This record gives sequence, structure tokens and C-alpha cells, in this order.
Amino acid sequence: MAEAKHFKYVILGGGVAAGYAAREFAKQGLNPGELAIISKEAVAPYERPALSKGYLFPQGAARLPGFHVCVGSGGERLLPEWYSEKGIELILSTEIVKANLASKTLTSATGATFTYDILIIATGSTVVQLSDFGVQGADSNNIFYLREIDDADRLVAAIQAKKDGKAVIVGGGYIGLELGAALQINNLDVTMVYPEPWCMPRLFTAGIAAFYEGYYANKGIKIVKGTVAVGFDSDANGDVIAVRLKDGRVLEADIVVVGVGGRPLTSLFKGQVAEDKGGIKTDGFFETSIPGVYAIGDVATFPLRLFNDIRRVEHVDHARKSAEQAVKAIKASEEGKLIEEYDYLPYFYSRSFDLSWQFYGDNVGDSILFGDNDPTSPKPKFGTYWIKDGKVVGVFLEGGSPDETKAIAKLARFQPPVSDLEELRKEGLAFASKI
Ligand code: FDA
Ligand code: NAD
Repeated sequence: MAEAKHFKYVILGGGVAAGYAAREFAKQGLNPGELAIISKEAVAPYERPALSKGYLFPQGAARLPGFHVCVGSGGERLLPEWYSEKGIELILSTEIVKANLASKTLTSATGATFTYDILIIATGSTVVQLSDFGVQGADSNNIFYLREIDDADRLVAAIQAKKDGKAVIVGGGYIGLELGAALQINNLDVTMVYPEPWCMPRLFTAGIAAFYEGYYANKGIKIVKGTVAVGFDSDANGDVIAVRLKDGRVLEADIVVVGVGGRPLTSLFKGQVAEDKGGIKTDGFFETSIPGVYAIGDVATFPLRLFNDIRRVEHVDHARKSAEQAVKAIKASEEGKLIEEYDYLPYFYSRSFDLSWQFYGDNVGDSILFGDNDPTSPKPKFGTYWIKDGKVVGVFLEGGSPDETKAIAKLARFQPPVSDLEELRKEGLAFASKI
């Protein structure tokens, strides 16, 4: 067997968090040959959110190398050459199938081994599949999931092959809403199906959801709520032709996109490291229960100081910031220094059609809807405050300007007290702007 390749630092996973961690290592000082990124993807780290947005545009679509990290946060674009210039080894198209944290060894699907002094786990999430629930026919052709660039390429090819066809979107979360819009823009006849009474129930209130459902309906998207896909029919070639729903309805389909949730990729480390809330448990520096092993991005369950809680967050802003925090902590500890614990303000966003929303904080407690949420308005702008224990703890805003977005972020961080909810509703966005 070939000898193991040794690195001082190994980042396992080559997604958003890996890219931002590499940039932070370079910033803090790195010797050539010290760092390797091992990724099963064939390309250098990129801004994954582009896959469900610009990558699917019918014209002027985003393509690599246009959206390598760190362009998503306004930073330098790290092309593959950047890694070689810094002496960072990008080990691509390499899936790690075994991790032994005791011997500090990773083994790839082809039997290559890698050892490290410090490991950063950045394996992200994978998709929940309908076959996991035993949905019949879920392996038919033209049923797509979207996580990696290869998935997006397969979907783009199908969109081109099925011009003016019918698309069914299964799931009403982030993927459902962003892909529903993307396929409609590509001129497909789109129907969305989800089990809940309204879309994006993890975050949206009924009032917020009513706006997006109305807006999508005005674009010609049909929405079927309160039921799930229980089976798929296919033709003699194995191509999907219909989606069967639990309520007995049957929807014709040339393309199906499924977005029924993500699952953090932690299985390589099962039984070797402490877990919590489905993720790998870390401290406020993203170090796990095993010294010298860190976990960042979607896989980390970390202390969220602001809410005195521990959470896992599956969004890009946290992927970037947790990566930077972990590398700063690693470098500081080598110098015997301490850094501040992670103090994260949750931030989520989405874009579809010409809509754009931002959310900061926590969506718990009472909610107050304000502003113009009429889906037929020429320039809708509305939001929601969440109030818990007499304080504003979360804010959602659709159609805000950059300054207004800054204002809601500040508000969610400061958590100002409020006594009169009706007054807050009347004040609307002006309340955030004066903080
Ligand atoms: P990420 O998934 O980015 O990277 C994980 C990497 O590890 C991948 O390269 C994977 O191949 C690799 N890997 C996993 N297991 C491996 C193994 N065993 N061996 C080798 N490599 C392995 N968020 C947001 O805030 N706004 C948005 O608009 C969007 N939009 C969006 C669109 C789409 C299509 C997706 C799928 C996700 C989003 N997100 C988002 C979520 C956001 O992209 C996500 O939270 C971050 O990418 C998480 O970064 P990580 O680095 O943790 O995982
Ligand atoms: P999600 O959790 O946002 O939504 C899943 C949706 O599927 C929910 O509405 C759920 O109830 C529904 N569902 C569950 N079972 C179903 C079934 N059997 N039939 C029909 N619907 C069903 O997950 P997602 O949209 O799949 O996104 C996956 C991952 O990608 C998440 O980590 C998400 O954070 C990330 N993502 C984020 C963004 C963003 O932040 N803008 C965009 C795209 C993807």
C-alpha cells in the first residue's frame, strides 16, 4: 500500500466552509505544503447558493470560474491557481470513506490514505431522498435533487431537453421556492407540492407565506398543499411521466425536482466524536470533543450565545463565519493566545424572480406583520418582527434596501424591548431604522 500523505492541517470537504477556511489560513500565515483540502467534488470551492439561482438562468447563467469562493461575500475569487500559489493542496474528486480519529487517518474510496495533525470537518449536508421513505418509482429518470454542481449540470441538461414541458417540485422549503421560480423562468409549466398548510414553515408565518404563494400563483405556478408524493410513473425508457399524490391526484411531469430537506454528513465520525441535534458538537471555537478535530459549516452544532442555546445552522453565512472562527482559533492556540468565542447572529436569505428577503435572529414568540405584502403591488415591501419575553428577537424583510437590511440586523442583535405590539405594527420598518 502507498504511504500515507501527511499534512499539518486537513480540511475534509471542499465546499463553502472549506474555501473560507483556506482563505483564513492564508491570511493568518501558512507554509507551503501544510494544508490540504480533500473533496469529492471535481472543482475548487465555490459559492453553493449560485446553484439554485444564477446557475439556472436561461440567459447569462453563472458558470465556474465565475462563482468560486469568496465572491459571495464580496471577497477575492479563489481560482484553482490561488491554491497552488499558496502551496495548498487541492485533492479533488476524492471521496473519503473511512475516518479514524484515533490514528488521525483518512482513507479514500480508492484506498489512498492521508494523515494530519489537525482536522477540520467540513463535509456539509446531503439531500434527504424520497427513496429513504420508500416512495415507489423514485429512481425514475429526470427526478432531480440539487446539492452539488454535477446535480445542477444534470438539471440544466434536462431543462434544455424538456423545453416547454411540465415540472413538478416536491417540497416547499428553500429548494422548492427557488427551483419553482427557476423552472418557471425557463418556461416550464410548474406545479409545487408540499405537505404543510403554507410554504417554508420552518421560517415563514402564514402571513409571510401568503405573499410568496400569491406571487408565485400570479406567475402561473400551481401550488398543491397538504399532501405528499407517494409514487412516480415512468415510460418504457424509465423517464418520469407522472407524480402520484397521497390525496389521489396525479400530476403529469417531464421533470421533477425534489427538495425535502438536508441531512448533515456526519456518518464517517459516528461513535468517535460527541454529537448533538444531528450535528457534530463543538465549542465556541468549533473544536469538537476530540482535541485537534474541528467541525464547521452545516455539520457543526455550536453554542449560540445570543440565544443561550446550541444550534446547527444550514446556511452560507454561518459556513463562512464558522470557518474563519475555527482557523483563527487554531492559529491563536498555536501561539498560546485566546480569541473571543463565536457570537453568531443567525442570518438567512433567499432570492427568486425579482424578490429578495433577509432574516436575522430567531423566529420564536409572537409575530407582527407590517408593510405592503400585496403580491400584486409593483414594489412590495413588508416584514415581520418576532417578539419574545417583551423583546424583538427576529426580523424578516422582503424588498429592503442595503441600509434597511443593516438596520434589521442591528435590531436583531440588540433585541430592543417593546411593550405595545399594535404600535410596533403601525411603526413597521421605521422602528428598525431608528435603532
Ligand atoms: P458544503 O455542502 O458547501 O460543502 C461540503 C463539501 O464536502 C462538498 O464539496 C462535498 O462534496 C464534500 N464532501 C462531503 N463528504 C465528503 C467525503 N466523504 N469525502 C470528500 N468530500 C466530501 N444558504 C444561504 O444562506 N443562502 C442561499 O441562498 C443558499 N442557497 C443554497 C442553494 C443550494 C442549491 C444548496 C444546496 C444550498 C444553499 N444554501 C444557501 C446552503 C449553503 O450552501 C450551505 O449551508 C453551505 O454550503 C454549507 O457549507 P459547508 O462547507 O458546510 O458544506
Ligand atoms: P427545507 O428543509 O428548507 O425544506 C424541505 C421541505 O420539504 C419542507 O417544506 C418540508 O415539509 C417538505 N417535505 C418534507 N417531506 C416531504 C414530502 N414527502 N413531500 C413533499 N414535501 C415534503 O429543505 P430543502 O429546501 O430541501 O433545502 C435543503 C438544504 O439546502 C437546506 O440545508 C437548506 O438550508 C439549503 N438551502 C438553502 C437555501 C437558502 O438559504 N436560500 C437555498 C437552497 C437550499
